[in-house]
Amino acid sequence: MKIVIVGASGTMGTYLSNSFEKEHQVVRADRNSPDVQVDITSPAAIEKMYKKIGAFDALICTAGPTYVGPWKNLNEETFRVGVEGKMMGQINLVLIGQHYINPKGSFTLITGALTCEPQKNFANASAANSAVEGFVRAAAIELENGIRINAVSPTVIENSPQYFPFFPGEMPVTMKQLEFGFRKSVFGASTGQVIKPN
Ligand SMILES: NC(=O)c1ccc[n+]([C@@H]2O[C@H](COP(=O)([O-])OP(=O)(O)OC[C@H]3O[C@@H](n4cnc5c(N)ncnc54)[C@H](OP(=O)(O)O)[C@@H]3O)[C@@H](O)[C@H]2O)c1
Repeated sequence: MKIVIVGASGTMGTYLSNSFEKEHQVVRADRNSPDVQVDITSPAAIEKMYKKIGAFDALICTAGPTYVGPWKNLNEETFRVGVEGKMMGQINLVLIGQHYINPKGSFTLITGALTCEPQKNFANASAANSAVEGFVRAAAIELENGIRINAVSPTVIENSPQYFPFFPGEMPVTMKQLEFGFRKSVFGASTGQVIKPN
């Protein structure tokens, strides 16, 4: 299977790329990747990425920039980080990518537990997650040629200890649990689902 991982250099993306490349062809994408570069806030850059990659079987996105910071700093400008990044970036990966993906392919986007369990400093991510999850449910009944779409929604993950203090009482998701959440989406039959890997 040819699997594109957007956000491949990040905490999640590195782990998933290293795991999936043992069995599949993995194309790593982010703003500085040696494989293929993309800034998901730019539809033109996304189109260019897909043209370079050609047909593929699955796209995983673990790139979802949002504004993280105190409520008092949230305004039109800071809020747009998540709107243009995690929300429209991922939605455009699907809207544009549907014209390049192979029949029976799949898209797997990243959201997070903040959708339903907000934490201080993360309102921008909560809102972007909700939009992406709504899009996933709607896209699942519209995408043609057997193409599936899901979101993976973990709580804080074990390889991101810098976030632990912001998630009191949350048991971190292990990297194996996270990987298997993505495996369920990419290799399973589900579509329109929000997969919680814990
Ligand atoms: N870490 C957690 O505990 C956790 C838990 C639940 C949900 N999440 C969500 O999961 C996502 C990934 O988390 P992570 O911890 O793996 O993040 P990360 O380590 O910061 O990695 C982010 C990745 O996305 C890429 N990226 C950032 N902005 C981009 C852009 N505009 N265009 C293309 N690529 C871009 C980065 O590479 P470049 O900067 O080089 O482009 C990097 O490869 C985030 O949306 C986060 O909200 C994280």
